[in-house]
Amino acid sequence: MSYIASRLSVVKPSASMAASQAAKALRAKGVDVIDLGLGEPDFPTPLHIIDAAHFAAKAGQTLYTAAAGTPEVREAVARKFRRENGLDYTADDIVVANGAKQIIFNALMATLETGDEAILPAPYFVSYPEMVKLLGGTPVVVECPETTGFRLTPSLLEKAITPRTKWLFLNMPGNPSGTVYSESDLKALGAVLAKHPHVLVLSDEIYEHILFDGREFVSFGKACPELKERTLIVNGVSKSYAMTGWRVGYAAGPAPLVKAMSTIQSQSCTSVCSIAQAATVAALNGPQDEVARFRKAFEARRNLVVDGIRKINGLTLSPPEGAFYAYIGCASLIGRKTPKGVVLEDDVAVANYLLNDGRVASVPGVAYGLSPYFRISTATSEEVLTEAIARINAAIAQVE
Ligand SMILES: Cc1ncc(COP(=O)(O)O)c(C=O)c1O
Repeated sequence: MSYIASRLSVVKPSASMAASQAAKALRAKGVDVIDLGLGEPDFPTPLHIIDAAHFAAKAGQTLYTAAAGTPEVREAVARKFRRENGLDYTADDIVVANGAKQIIFNALMATLETGDEAILPAPYFVSYPEMVKLLGGTPVVVECPETTGFRLTPSLLEKAITPRTKWLFLNMPGNPSGTVYSESDLKALGAVLAKHPHVLVLSDEIYEHILFDGREFVSFGKACPELKERTLIVNGVSKSYAMTGWRVGYAAGPAPLVKAMSTIQSQSCTSVCSIAQAATVAALNGPQDEVARFRKAFEARRNLVVDGIRKINGLTLSPPEGAFYAYIGCASLIGRKTPKGVVLEDDVAVANYLLNDGRVASVPGVAYGLSPYFRISTATSEEVLTEAIARINAAIAQVE
């Protein structure tokens, strides 16, 4: 007998989680592995946020909340969108969920009919295609080469749209590439979308505060206000406030979509943890200096990684413009042999070699829809990154 529903047969577990598990398994055997697989800030959550959670718990904020989120958290999110993004949403246009991931899942569940297409510019966040497939949709992967900065261009978008297109996914700064879209880039995509009124836009802006070289963040909503009625802006506290474990994400969008998403939530998890919502209010309304401090640290790490990787013969790296990953090109290693005689056939083989012989866990580019690359997370200390680069260098120097 099969326990598992057929819809699961098309879904893969998260590749970054898998890389991290492989690193843990090696560590359990006593091998000293540096895990650059999973991407989460290594800073503790700022103290005033933790204090707010304590206070909320002691003050009895321990009950179920409204499915879409407490009035306080939705108001704080609406204020954030006004203050930081110049977007005008009311609390009724906002829904809070257990992480941006659940927001995306709910949005897809609320909208996808079987066979509806979602355009995913690659490289993409590993969960997008799996969620689309799980909910009966068809991912339409559009490879966005490094030569265009891994950016979706208007002509690539135009070619990908069909009568079945339901969603276009955008993610900026992008995981894994760090790619950012300027206001004019977004307006150019908006001009294409204006011709196709059946296409919705999901703009995942979760890394908005992790932006380098003095860049200013422009939300898709700000660049293309004329598309407001078919845009869902997705964000959350995980990356900006070092709160990955608190599991709070949020979105603003057309009221009927947001309502449907909160109905799904009311029948699945009821609501986000009441205490995590109180912590989110403190994060969004409180002092923002820690966010700036994190950004500076991530930029220093980005610089260190770009310098180090670019010195390694056989690897290439375009400086990431934001987020905390490096998407490293390894085309010139493909077809070559490791000291044990294994041919590096693809980026999976490269990542395996770096794990088993270099003792550095990374995630192969195939998981992000664009090969041959591998992704390392730069959300770790400069000492660890320096050691990881030395190990990668030593391993690659031995490839024949
Ligand atoms: C692009 C992108 N969106 C969403 C998420 C998930 O965020 P959350 O922790 O809010 O679920 C991640 C996490 O890695 C991500 O990289």
